[in-house]
Amino acid sequence: MNILAIETSCDETSTAVVSNGINVKSVVVSSQVNLHAKFFGVVPELASRAHIDNINIVLEQSLEEANINFNNFNDQIDAIAYTVGPGLIGALLVGEMVAKSLSYAYKKPLIPINHLEGHIYSTVLTNHLLTPPFLSLVISGGHTSIILIRKLGIYELIGETRDDAVGEAFDKVAKMLGLTYPGGPIIDLMAKTGNPAAIHFPRPYLKGSFDFSFSGIKTAVLNYIKKYPIKSDKTLNDICASFNQAIVDTLCFKTFQVAEKFNIKQIVLGGGVSANSLVRQSFIALGKKHNIKVFIPSFDYCTDNAAIIACAAYIKQQISGMKYTLDQCQSKANLKLINWI
Ligand SMILES: Nc1ncnc2c1ncn2[C@@H]1O[C@H](COP(=O)(O)OP(=O)(O)OP(=O)(O)O)[C@@H](O)[C@H]1O
Ligand SMILES: [Mg+2]
Repeated sequence: MNILAIETSCDETSTAVVSNGINVKSVVVSSQVNLHAKFFGVVPELASRAHIDNINIVLEQSLEEANINFNNFNDQIDAIAYTVGPGLIGALLVGEMVAKSLSYAYKKPLIPINHLEGHIYSTVLTNHLLTPPFLSLVISGGHTSIILIRKLGIYELIGETRDDAVGEAFDKVAKMLGLTYPGGPIIDLMAKTGNPAAIHFPRPYLKGSFDFSFSGIKTAVLNYIKKYPIKSDKTLNDICASFNQAIVDTLCFKTFQVAEKFNIKQIVLGGGVSANSLVRQSFIALGKKHNIKVFIPSFDYCTDNAAIIACAAYIKQQISGMKYTLDQCQSKANLKLINWI
């Protein structure tokens, strides 16, 4: 089964053709990162306009790479999936309109997908097998959530951030340090040559709760650089390494604590921050220590792209079929995870 998927929830315009949820025939991503870099965050109106400018080019390229054209489209594509939320409403609507137009023109079923489901199941593209029960840790620019999945498509939210998302904390700290946007990749890189024990930033473990909070670590970095202005590259690398370590310690502590409490033997990472080197190393090492299998998507599938949406759509249609109500197909900026059955 070939699914054409469209992702436009934030600042990446992406389309993909994926066969049976795992075989990526094409995935094209047009990032708007340069457009938003000077604002250190995504400007919604600019994002929507850029999606409109880019979507047809991206779509044509991904169809061409999958050897599909508008003559054989009918035979080659079985369904159209798209991100229906959460995200920027103007950006989501661009993807929705393209998906609905193709669905109408070619009489193909539509599969609306929650963007978080893309991150939750993204590891299937890399590891292929994903059998519940498992814990999903979604760590991205807008989310930090631990979700318990005992059956595919049935979600139990165990913990989430009370303030900044973890990716957002990386981006804001990078801005404070005078680094580039997005902050995660550059902090990750600079941390590699710094000393993670140089500065002790707090680990917000929030006793008695599985929630996260990253605003305290962020403020601690701000207070530190006010007190000790950065005078050398070494200090900058040490701050990055110490901040990175505080974040990763917190993510690991909370996730493995939840795994132990619910006696879950599989942890699945997803979202942009799962590209972080220390996140990857630490989760794998702790998984070995606690005898828990850790699944991490390959780098290309950590940040936003349409292949992860196609993958989630394939799994979803196997469980809930191809018929969705008008309301389910309408973009929603604050869409929550909704159980499939
Ligand atoms: N190597 C890295 N280390 C830490 N953070 C990273 C790394 N690479 C990317 N990030 C962070 O990942 C985030 C982007 O991830 P992603 O594309 O999944 O988020 P999003 O789509 O904006 O948010 P959401 O999925 O919640 O809607 C950014 O905040 C970026 O700084
Ligand atoms: Mg995302």
